[in-house]
Amino acid sequence: MSLPKRVVLVGPMGAGKSTIGRMLAKELGYRFLDSDRIIEERCGANIPWIFDVEGEDGFRLRETAMLEELSLLPDTVLATGGGAVMRPENRPFLKQDAVVVYLKTSIEQQVERTRKDRNRPLLQNDDPEAVLRKLFSIRDPLYSQLADITMYTDRKSPRLVVRQLVNRMNPRTPRHKRQVRKEGRNHV
Ligand code: S3P
Repeated sequence: MSLPKRVVLVGPMGAGKSTIGRMLAKELGYRFLDSDRIIEERCGANIPWIFDVEGEDGFRLRETAMLEELSLLPDTVLATGGGAVMRPENRPFLKQDAVVVYLKTSIEQQVERTRKDRNRPLLQNDDPEAVLRKLFSIRDPLYSQLADITMYTDRKSPRLVVRQLVNRMNPRTPRHKRQVRKEGRNHV
């Protein structure tokens, strides 16, 4: 697999898309983008506020417009929201010039990583674990279908996930190239 124009990370809340995305972008020499954060910046309000005022439908409209816009930007690693795969019209925007990576994560890890979070409106209820289970049963097949690479993240550090991803995509990253130059080798 040659180095793609874009890498798009999909997966559930708590999969580590932002942390891993930021590190992966650095490794590839690409720009890191987080669609939820850009929606918040543009809107001047956070996601709970958008859900409150415009409902989930309002948020999903903004998300589709954002994914379309970001699909045109090369040399980027994009972290998407967990629900980005739900609307069929989003899927071509996710796939455009991209290697799509599904960061697959157990429900236990999702629960653990989102436990103290107040910025995810879908989990602000009595039984967030039940919500995560339900979302997983609906979305897991969609993530899998869309993904070029499925990477398990449980019991792995973000650094290890990034290393494994880089190896799967293309070993010739800028850092790798520097290493090769230093070692005076032409081929790796
Ligand atoms: C959502 C996930 C969130 C955010 C919004 C809805 C979802 O993003 O887009 O709260 O539907 O799963 P993260 O996956 O980054 O938490």
